[in-house]
Amino acid sequence: MAESHDAASGAGAELLDKVTNLAKRRGFIFPSAEIYGGFRSTYDYGPLGVNMLRNVKNAWWRSMIQLRDDVVGLDAAILGPPAVWAASGHLETFTDPLVDCKKCKERWREDKIEGVCPNCGSTEFTEARAFNLMFKTQAGPVEGEGATAYLRPETAQGMFTNFANVLATTRRKPPFGIAQVGKSFRNEITPQNFVFRTREFEQMELEYFVAPGEAEAWYRYWIDTRLTWYLDLGIAPEKLRLHEHAQEDLSHYSRGTTDVEFLYPWGWDELEGIANRGDYDLTQHSNASGVRLEYFDQTSGEHYVPYVIEPAAGATRAMMAFLLAAYDEDEVGGERRTVLRLDPRLAPYQVAVLPLSKKPELEALSREVLGLLQVDFICDYDLTQSIGRRYRRQDEVGTPLCVTVDFDSLDDRAVTVRDRDTTTQERVGIDALGELVRARLRR
Ligand code: GAP
Repeated sequence: MAESHDAASGAGAELLDKVTNLAKRRGFIFPSAEIYGGFRSTYDYGPLGVNMLRNVKNAWWRSMIQLRDDVVGLDAAILGPPAVWAASGHLETFTDPLVDCKKCKERWREDKIEGVCPNCGSTEFTEARAFNLMFKTQAGPVEGEGATAYLRPETAQGMFTNFANVLATTRRKPPFGIAQVGKSFRNEITPQNFVFRTREFEQMELEYFVAPGEAEAWYRYWIDTRLTWYLDLGIAPEKLRLHEHAQEDLSHYSRGTTDVEFLYPWGWDELEGIANRGDYDLTQHSNASGVRLEYFDQTSGEHYVPYVIEPAAGATRAMMAFLLAAYDEDEVGGERRTVLRLDPRLAPYQVAVLPLSKKPELEALSREVLGLLQVDFICDYDLTQSIGRRYRRQDEVGTPLCVTVDFDSLDDRAVTVRDRDTTTQERVGIDALGELVRARLRR
């Protein structure tokens, strides 16, 4: 929670503006309920955004679960009873300091405004009070304490409350992890900077259970592994760094936390947090529920409460970082162009199929090519406007490859494959197209 940042200024503000505008204009991210004037920093993910966000989550799932044999997945409920949040400590401590400006009555998070009201410039505020960030609601038709429910503010607790279930059903033993991707909700006092901090967002979290004596080594392992994930997906090393929290800044559950930070337009700020949560969570839930959440080590004959190493990332925040890192402008054939240099695994479309004209025989062959590629790749199909305009449009949303079907294609059954980054083109037979596209998209 210890994030500090100012609004972006100068070149940073310009980049944030450009990416926000592109996201809206090209269907990545829309302000929610926009026809009613929008709704409190909530956002909807449009046709391209939903592809890209899914790609971010898939890339995470693939590296954290699919390519490992020590992590299993989970999809827990978003609604939860107060008992979970009492045991986790969220009811008591998941708060931010709230102040009211005495002049304009706006409310602010005290640690974000440096003593000056961003709305009216006043320096007079009420005393700070602890504002709980959880969304409270009622489950069922009856009101009252018995029906109180909370929207989860993190996905993590689902992994702890299901610890015994997963252990019993998968025969795992530490070190092993439970991973989850899904929505979380926080009633943030000052949501900020596009989708960086919103009230509804998506998280990608792993709770990795280890023997206490191995916790430090696994903590270091996960810091390294998570940093490498962002690098591998194309964020330049100079835009990423690690920041280890000072002991006095740690959350109530943490024995050590390191953030992967990204260089946002407003400066360095959190992208993901990796924490050593010790035995805090399993002990709390054991005590509160009466169910022993331990591991029985058959070799030593001992019961112990595993420690937890937690890499906790934001899917929506990561998507924003990938967009910012990929945004570029260059010149092609004497013309300025905007290009998103996204890794092919993250791009909303991997291939665009472009018939040179709307002639029925070209369309028919283009649809054949599309059908061939769609089985394995996420494709767009675009036949409006000049081919140059269509290339620019695909560059702007990060499509790595364009496949153009022209009149010669009708005779030679070959097509032109154009590369987003180099703009070079090569001719390839339709029979060999799938293989070539696969090779080009592999990094
Ligand atoms: N289970 C630990 C936990 O939730 P956190 O640092 O509060 O830790 C983890 O959240 C990640 O979730 C953050 O690094 C960030 O990427 C994302 N996140 C947290 N609050 C967010 C918000 N209001 N909007 C968007 N993303 C958020």
